Amino acid sequence: MTTFVRACALSELEEDTPKRVELDGTPVSLVHTEGEVFAIHDICSHANVSLSEGEVEDCQIECWLHGSAFDLRTGKPSGLPATRPVPVYPVKIEGGSVLVDVHASLTQES
Ligand code: FES
Repeated sequence: MTTFVRACALSELEEDTPKRVELDGTPVSLVHTEGEVFAIHDICSHANVSLSEGEVEDCQIECWLHGSAFDLRTGKPSGLPATRPVPVYPVKIEGGSVLVDVHASLTQES
């Protein structure tokens, strides 16, 4: 069973500008980049910082506080100080809406 919920309209997402939404109580950062939409947990794995306030580049979102960047496909940090991945979630586009399943993490641990 999947539990996709509507996050927003696709037209609400600006390219490379993260949008924070809350889905079933989970803060999620939506990112439209490189022709795809990604959903990543909005809290950095290093400290309690909102990733949606960071910059997007090369399919990564950068934490504005200490600069770890997380891969939007896998959730893995590319460098210190963060060492743990951030959950990333499956996304579907249907009828102009962005749907996210926050109960199914795609994060790769290693
Ligand atoms: S809080 Fe994100 S890298 Fe430190």
